[in-house]
Amino acid sequence: MTININRTEKLVAALPKGKLLKPTFDLLQKAGFTFNEADQKSRKLIIEDENRAMQALFVKPSDVPIYVEHGIADFGIVGKDSLVESCVDVFTPLELDFGQCNLAIAGFPEDQDRNWRLRSLVRVATKYPNITRVHFDKLGVQAEIISLHGSVELGVLAGLADVIVDIVETGTTLKENGLVVFDEILPAMAMFIVNKASHKLKLRQLDAVISAIANS
Ligand code: PRP
Repeated sequence: MTININRTEKLVAALPKGKLLKPTFDLLQKAGFTFNEADQKSRKLIIEDENRAMQALFVKPSDVPIYVEHGIADFGIVGKDSLVESCVDVFTPLELDFGQCNLAIAGFPEDQDRNWRLRSLVRVATKYPNITRVHFDKLGVQAEIISLHGSVELGVLAGLADVIVDIVETGTTLKENGLVVFDEILPAMAMFIVNKASHKLKLRQLDAVISAIANS
């Protein structure tokens, strides 16, 4: 059965596919919105909770802010890293207690010792070109930013870049590839974000969800 997005009555949520999805469903359940397990694991892109009070859109994490800013979703759950990178205009009423990580500069240990900042031009591979540009401008280090979409660590290993700017969560990916953190740029966590118009039009429903989450 196909579900159309119902923007007038129900709350519409943009949920991030990947690592944040399971804790996001757990959080929504605590707030009173239970989604069928089979739907949660399915390839469907729009699902509804058991009470048909909320529709959830499965979205690539970096696209969550876009769906919320454009009002397709009333609210979304997204990592602060993706939120800051997207530069969108949304409300951010809640930081959540999962998805903790750091956006960091990393590379080979020998480059850290050699002071990589003194290069005349540093090649930086990243999924976060906006944050990286601002940070390197602040450092006063001239950078060539190379945008990648995944496996960013490979950029340094394969010689495409001198350093990376990427998420470090457990540190396993860096460790297993012989890389180390040089500097931390941004501590990040999952965030609850709200469309500005929805905040007025669906204030009662959104406040109920926010309170339920805050008190869970
Ligand atoms: C993220 C990030 C790092 C890794 C860090 O990648 O880009 O590669 O997780 O996690 P760790 O510190 O726990 O090892 P993700 O798994 O989202 O996939 P990607 O490489 O395809 O972007």
